Amino acid sequence: MRAILLTATGGPDVLVPGEVPAPRPGAGEVLVRSEAIPVLYPETMLRSGAFPIPLDKPFVFGTQAVGIVAEIGAGVDSAWIGQRVMLGSNTFGTYAELVCVPVDGIVAVPQAVSPEDAAAVSMSGSVALPLLERAALTGTETVLVEAGATGIGGYLVQLAKEFGAARVIATAGGPEKGDRARELGADEVIDHRAADWPQRLAEVLAGTTVDVVFDSIGGESASALLDLMTPLRGRMLSYGWLSGAPAQLSAMDVIGRGLTLVGCAGPAWLAGVAAARGAVLERAATGGITVLSDLRLPLEQAAEAHRRLGERAALGTIVLRP
Ligand SMILES: NC(=O)c1ccc[n+]([C@@H]2O[C@H](COP(=O)([O-])OP(=O)(O)OC[C@H]3O[C@@H](n4cnc5c(N)ncnc54)[C@H](OP(=O)(O)O)[C@@H]3O)[C@@H](O)[C@H]2O)c1
Repeated sequence: MRAILLTATGGPDVLVPGEVPAPRPGAGEVLVRSEAIPVLYPETMLRSGAFPIPLDKPFVFGTQAVGIVAEIGAGVDSAWIGQRVMLGSNTFGTYAELVCVPVDGIVAVPQAVSPEDAAAVSMSGSVALPLLERAALTGTETVLVEAGATGIGGYLVQLAKEFGAARVIATAGGPEKGDRARELGADEVIDHRAADWPQRLAEVLAGTTVDVVFDSIGGESASALLDLMTPLRGRMLSYGWLSGAPAQLSAMDVIGRGLTLVGCAGPAWLAGVAAARGAVLERAATGGITVLSDLRLPLEQAAEAHRRLGERAALGTIVLRP
């Protein structure tokens, strides 16, 4: 079968098309024929070597896909055969025509959702829902969504008011992404490409404060936000480090202001993200979420997809089609 191999860690060109033996489903597994494969920001971090990978190279890259169950292993309900499913793999292997995963790693895709849309919404939407639940918004609060034009941030912006935000401030890079964040529902947008963007946030707030920060940038900017957060009630939900480092905060920074830093990463968190996939796909089927997608490219162009993500050129999820 055709597949994209990670040959080394490094730039996008370490992703190389090749032919590999088709996998066969073992006990408790399904074999899925892929139709749409999302290219995800964390995958660019894995490819570059920023996140460690415990596998010998080369191996078939990729962590998620949508496709049709073609075969099942022993012990799997035969009703899955022919079903369109969204899958997450803990052992890579999804940038390929065929992929095997344990049956507990799949969720049925509703008929009303195209494979490309299911692939585009599955990861980012499934992170946004648990973040919004964890924020426990009260109906009167102001939220700040960092990188709110694309990916997880784009879904946070569009759903924040439904989950109880009164005012949504987003950050985005440049005018085009700023417009996109506004279209998605942001009341105000700040350009985070200016290094002093927290200062601009202070001007927008004009003496009011932020109750919840959805922090995906991390680094130094996170500490610059603390004095703009509501004392005693403010929560910072830290789920990404686009700047290259998590929020640079000390315990005293948080304690001294009565703020709460909520960690939203790690295995237990990701189990909750996986559990949200069904709800996100149901929203996509019923219009409860606007799917944010960008280019659809042939599987062979995985490196080009990674390049576009690295250049911050994508306005939604890029989907590969085998
Ligand atoms: N904890 C979790 O469960 C979880 C799960 C998946 C992903 N994540 C993390 O969440 C973060 C967002 O992921 P995503 O998939 O939603 O990303 P994405 O929106 O698809 O892409 C990243 C966006 O962030 C913006 N950005 C801001 N500062 C940046 C910087 N210093 N470098 C690169 N891009 C920057 C870019 O847009 P501009 O042009 O507007 O700057 C880009 O559009 C990432 O850190 C990712 O690793 C966390």
